[in-house]
Amino acid sequence: MSRQTLIVGNWKMHKTIAEARDFVLALLARDDCFVPEVRVAICPPFTALEAVSELLGDQSKIALGAQTMHWATSGPYTGAVSAPMLVEVGCTYVLLGHSERRSYNAETDEIVNREVKTALEHDLIPIVAVGETLAEHKAGQAKERVVAQTLAAFDGVAGEQIARCILAYEPIWAIGSGLTEDPASANDVMGTMRGCREALHDVPILYGGSVKPANARALIAQENIDGALVGGASLEAASFAEIAINARRAVQSR
Ligand code: PGA
Repeated sequence: MSRQTLIVGNWKMHKTIAEARDFVLALLARDDCFVPEVRVAICPPFTALEAVSELLGDQSKIALGAQTMHWATSGPYTGAVSAPMLVEVGCTYVLLGHSERRSYNAETDEIVNREVKTALEHDLIPIVAVGETLAEHKAGQAKERVVAQTLAAFDGVAGEQIARCILAYEPIWAIGSGLTEDPASANDVMGTMRGCREALHDVPILYGGSVKPANARALIAQENIDGALVGGASLEAASFAEIAINARRAVQSR
């Protein structure tokens, strides 16, 4: 089975509702970046989800995702947003375990695991992010770290449920730094991730960390790199569209 290629924009804490609308209109106008081989999704901040969802309507060009969610479905968790709320607003995807959530919001492997289970129960597709620090990278521990995080995220999750998920390998040192892992090395780490649970065989694994139009094609041409999770370069419709176009070129030249 060939795996779906995906380009996912993670806007982080950027864009007001008005800015989000402008982006969506600009991207929808870029017909050249929507092809069946490449799925395009954006993850705006919570405040813009409803407006973006309304603009997207029932078109199938751009899918909607959230940047995080709570593992509980409701309750006394001030500031948190639940899976049913994301489903109601039209999200298909939810990003879980991003390193910024792990480091600034104290999300542990155990919390990520609970979030994954809740997302799946509510038919959201989790995009589970894992990655090693620079110190771990330098110590040659990248594979060990990402395999441990992957196994923890899917602990107690049945194979057929894992098969519905998406993984993202984001070396923490590459995020927002302008540094990118060498495509062949990233591919090697991602191949090891794929091999740690049988059910991951057909699961798309995205690369994230300073992905730009200029490096997207070489990364996605790799056997185990099924697309990109894009932060900074997803904030402008033009550069995000270029990444999707380069993803298509990579897929077509495989
Ligand atoms: P970046 O962010 O593309 O700005 O490095 C990627 C991410 O954090 O998902």
